[in-house]
Amino acid sequence: MSGPHQPGGAQRVGVRIAGTGSCLPERKLTNADLVNMMETSDEWIVQRTGIRERRIADHTGPESTDKLAAESLRRALATAHMDAKDLDAIIVATMTGEMSCPPTACLVAAQIGAGACGAFDLNGACCGFVFGLNVAHGLVAGGAYRNVALIGADTLTRYMDYSDAGRSTAIIFGDAAGCAILRATDDTSKGIIAQSMHSDGAGWKEIYVPTQPFHFPEGVPVDACKYGRVQMNGAAVFKFAVGTFSNLIDETLQKARLKPSDIDLYICHQSNQRILHAARDRFGLPENKLYINIDRVGNTVAASVPLCLDEVVRSRGLPEGAKVLFVAFGGGLTWGSSLWQL
Ligand code: COA
Repeated sequence: MSGPHQPGGAQRVGVRIAGTGSCLPERKLTNADLVNMMETSDEWIVQRTGIRERRIADHTGPESTDKLAAESLRRALATAHMDAKDLDAIIVATMTGEMSCPPTACLVAAQIGAGACGAFDLNGACCGFVFGLNVAHGLVAGGAYRNVALIGADTLTRYMDYSDAGRSTAIIFGDAAGCAILRATDDTSKGIIAQSMHSDGAGWKEIYVPTQPFHFPEGVPVDACKYGRVQMNGAAVFKFAVGTFSNLIDETLQKARLKPSDIDLYICHQSNQRILHAARDRFGLPENKLYINIDRVGNTVAASVPLCLDEVVRSRGLPEGAKVLFVAFGGGLTWGSSLWQL
């Protein structure tokens, strides 16, 4: 290890992304399938969101959140040429763990045969993976942990209402898991250059999942049919997202003293293609610098960012030294970024 000494005896080290993996459920839910379930059309969905199909997990067990998460980690371990026993910690960013106890990360640890490593969940809604990158980076850069697996996994389709009443929300979401393994390196040029994490708790009522009468915001009638179903104010979230997205990129670039063109790749939460295009136009980015897969997978919540990362790594690779800006926003409300030099 190299670098200056930190309080407590640990040494500051570089952090690299040693491997990535992802896992999608088998079943596709196309716009044509949705037309058979609710009053909608392929044209409406594509025009408003850019989504053509998404994956929906088998909710009877074989594709539970922890199983998708574990498979994404197995694939990441394979690309990192690492054994599960090498992991010092497993963090799962999710808002759809199958049970509130145990943590999904513990189920994952057992399934992959990890040793007695640390394992815990982090709920930052759609920001979970990006917040997790900042947290996991801190654990490794501080010198106390060498190998941390960070997974974003969600199966939010369990909480959808696929009837006319839920049509503006149900068309958006899909299920997936993605993973990145963060590893200590002596090269201190690698790791996070700038980051941000924000929230506005007053905006909780724009996306929530009620299960009790008192969960409904003031002025919204209690409706038991909505229990366990995502309630989203699409128009309000859209407005929040467009503005926040640009501000977040500006803020992070300013912290790093970089220009938009200095970034090699933008990996952004896939919430709506129009929101992504608006950011691309605002910063004058060429198409190949802002990765988009929402047409094939929809909005996969905390899995969205690591799924994009893994697809990029596998399809075109990411060169050593590349600058990659991860950006997300979501329920909470939350928003955050993580700018890396690989
Ligand atoms: N198919 C056809 N029509 C639909 C529809 C569907 N699936 N869903 C809603 N509509 C209708 C509405 O009933 C409404 O009809 P009306 O004008 O006759 O009342 C009309 O389309 C407009 O509805 P609205 O909800 O205002 O649509 P919108 O243009 O805001 O688009 C979203 C809805 C959800 C696509 C859009 O608001 C959005 O993408 N928001 C951001 C969501 C997001 O990113 N969430 C995740 C955050 S991490």
